[in-house]
Amino acid sequence: MTKDFDLTRLLAERGAERYDLHTKHLNHQLPRMLHTIGFDRVYERAEGAYFWDADGNDYLDMLAGFGVMGLGRHHPVVRKALHDVLDASLADLTRFDCQPLPGLLAEKLLAHSPHLDRVFFGNSGTEAVETALKFARYATGRPRILYCSHAFHGLTTGSLSVNGEDGFRDGFAPLLPDTAVEMGDLDALERELKRGDVAGFVIEPIQGKGVYAPPPGFLRGAQELLRRHKSLLIVDEVQTGLGRTGDFYAYQHEDGVEPDLICVAKALSGGYVPVGATVGRDWIFKKVYSSMDRVLVHSASFGSNAQAMAAGLAVLSVIEDEQIVANARVTGDLLRTRLAALVDRYELLHEVRGRGLMIGIEFGRPTSIKLRGRWTMLQAARKGLFAQMVVVPLLQKHRILTQVSGDHLEVIKLIPPLTIGEREVERFVDAFTAVMDDAHDGGGLMWDFGRTLVKQAVANR
Ligand SMILES: Cc1ncc(COP(=O)(O)O)c(C=O)c1O
Repeated sequence: MTKDFDLTRLLAERGAERYDLHTKHLNHQLPRMLHTIGFDRVYERAEGAYFWDADGNDYLDMLAGFGVMGLGRHHPVVRKALHDVLDASLADLTRFDCQPLPGLLAEKLLAHSPHLDRVFFGNSGTEAVETALKFARYATGRPRILYCSHAFHGLTTGSLSVNGEDGFRDGFAPLLPDTAVEMGDLDALERELKRGDVAGFVIEPIQGKGVYAPPPGFLRGAQELLRRHKSLLIVDEVQTGLGRTGDFYAYQHEDGVEPDLICVAKALSGGYVPVGATVGRDWIFKKVYSSMDRVLVHSASFGSNAQAMAAGLAVLSVIEDEQIVANARVTGDLLRTRLAALVDRYELLHEVRGRGLMIGIEFGRPTSIKLRGRWTMLQAARKGLFAQMVVVPLLQKHRILTQVSGDHLEVIKLIPPLTIGEREVERFVDAFTAVMDDAHDGGGLMWDFGRTLVKQAVANR
């Protein structure tokens, strides 16, 4: 008999080493960054939209693990499904049989995009995008993919090729043949399509970096152009999908849009089991898998595993049973309206945008001389420092976790669990108001911290 492995004991004995272990064996910049901004906390327990530290303080999660915790943490229905699937001791991943759960999850997913027919299951968002890129190239026989400036579709090499930020791309070239177009610029899109070598155009219906939505009509206009030029519309719903924006898919906000391929991941996992799905048209799949010889031409060892499928099925059931999409719309409208009402009150607050529970709060140059000098000092050091200056007291003083929405952006993004309600809206708006009051006071700890950030930004150059 082997020595018993006891996870509970391991965590009890060595959990306190967590930051040292990361510094020693993992990406050492993470603990360094967390320490710098005072985020190096120890959270002990989590449920729904909250986590707790060892002293029992509650923290409101407005980040949802970059969106994977769409239903919050440890949703009881998802948790039970995972216990059940383990208890069932299924003959999973034999690879030479057909399991029921992938078929059932595909059926349930496809019910939300009735014009599509088939699903490929992988293990992450970036893999869902890679699959779409490969399928588009194979189906059209063309090499080039178009994407939007500032886009984010994942960080593996294919997805990186359609990333709209140099910061992510630099040093990793050569990537796939690609061309960026400005979101909203149909003329630029058409110019590229006319070259006849474009397999597809990939777009987030609301960009995760900066929370920018295309102008109304752009998705439909793009779709018409793509059809005319026999290229595919690939909609990346990895972050926006499964109710986040107040529709099941964010593309559904605009009438008449029917993507050829949709990428899903994050929240489908229930926050437990990595999963990605590429949903698409029958003819595309039939072309990729055109003969028995090609049955494994695109596959993944862990794709369709029972735990991921069980989590996905449970998530979709909860989304239906608990009216999650409607809650995202109603609660999102409330939160956005309450925040937008503050724009006139605070000169540093420029815009509140987004849809459902995907909200961007943008800061900008103040009008008063008193604040302008401070703002300019921050901007000269690095763009995005003011947003960081807001994120830090939100956590340190008010125990609310948020993030700056991308490098060099003065935007905070809110993507909380879709289960939050009025209580969480009140707590966030109260805290945000207090932080804005501090910032507009002009003195105080907040701007001292700003000066610390400036020193670090300059030292890091
Ligand atoms: C729109 C979008 N696509 C793709 C990805 C990549 O997903 P993953 O991190 O699971 O690879 C992300 C992740 O943030 C995303 O927001």
